[in-house]
Amino acid sequence: MAPNNDAPQTEPVAAQAALIVDDDEEIALLVIREPDLTSIPVDAHELKSSRNSTSTSITSSILKYHYENGRRYHAYRAGSYLMPNDKQASEHLDICHRMMTIAIGNCLHVSPIGKNPERILDIGTGTGAWAIEIADQYPSAEVLGNDLSAIQPMIVPQNVKFEIDDVEADWAFSQPFDLIHSRYMCMSIADWPRLIRQMHQNVKPGGWVELFDCDLKYRSFDGSLKPKHALYKNEELVIQGSEKHGRDPCPGAKLKGWMQDAGFVNVKEEIIPMPLGTWPKDPKMKEIGAWNLLQFMEGVEGWTMATLTRLHGWTAEEVKVQLDQVRADVKNKQIHAYFNMHLVYGQRAESSALPKMYVCLRKAFFGAGMAAVSRASVEDTLSM
Ligand SMILES: C[S@@+](CC[C@H](N)C(=O)[O-])C[C@H]1O[C@@H](n2cnc3c(N)ncnc32)[C@H](O)[C@@H]1O
Repeated sequence: MAPNNDAPQTEPVAAQAALIVDDDEEIALLVIREPDLTSIPVDAHELKSSRNSTSTSITSSILKYHYENGRRYHAYRAGSYLMPNDKQASEHLDICHRMMTIAIGNCLHVSPIGKNPERILDIGTGTGAWAIEIADQYPSAEVLGNDLSAIQPMIVPQNVKFEIDDVEADWAFSQPFDLIHSRYMCMSIADWPRLIRQMHQNVKPGGWVELFDCDLKYRSFDGSLKPKHALYKNEELVIQGSEKHGRDPCPGAKLKGWMQDAGFVNVKEEIIPMPLGTWPKDPKMKEIGAWNLLQFMEGVEGWTMATLTRLHGWTAEEVKVQLDQVRADVKNKQIHAYFNMHLVYGQRAESSALPKMYVCLRKAFFGAGMAAVSRASVEDTLSM
């Protein structure tokens, strides 16, 4: 339930450090349109499934998209994902792609995978922008991107391939990957711990998994975003709707623990505040804020419409009225809202013996009545 008081939504000091308000700023938003990656008709796709060796055209049922309240939605595993897959949604994803690469220092990944990786997987690839760029960056690698929707372009570098797949189904890849990447999958995944365990099983010993995801809750460090604001109310309703739908809207802060539980080692986390608007003084934060403003305006109807109509019983008209108020809040320079993204990456241990021994020891300890045993304590035991 949304809080019903006007208590300011404030944040701990650490997250505030980068978010100093620039009082003098004038919003001059330069809208740079990325090349349209979605202009090629999707029925031109030819997919080769990694589950078997046959090459098959996308069947018409997968392309029989669902139309609702003026937006288009995926057909494969219909209803499981609440955001649209139409042209506007693809433009939104491409803006997000730029924003998120800038947020991590104008790069595609931070895991130290070496210069010549052989296999890279991008789950829930969306328009495939990340997969295409990583394929260009590493010509040595065979890059695979999968998604519920066939919204990726047809003309791509030779070393990239797209598949229609449900990442929550059992994985059956014939060979492991050097890097498995997942980004912006909040509101998509029902069982994150299982997904991350499948990543662990499908990455090479010594290989890396990199997750970059949100805590969708908008906050402010100075209490300028209040529960009375349409922006706050809307995002709370989206979070509640996604939870009702069984897809975690805020996985970010839990990723590190899930990776450690799955047996990854050298797990690192960076928390990156994403300001909404150009109000921060810091130039990098200001740039991220400009992109965030752009993606919000382009995307807010997409993540709100089905969530509020299907999960909260609102009419499309009610949603549109609220969204007008939300957009007004977003343009209000007195509101200094932001959300957090969590960049988490970790490595599968070089030796596969440790995770197996860990599981055996864990069972033995629990069997002996111990309340809990941490992976670290098992590792300490093993290293003695
Ligand atoms: C918010 S978009 C992010 C796209 C991309 N990862 C990026 O960062 O640009 C989430 C994507 O995940 C896909 N998706 C959602 N659930 C999925 C599932 N169970 N299996 C595969 N893809 C899924 C959606 O179709 C959508 O393209």
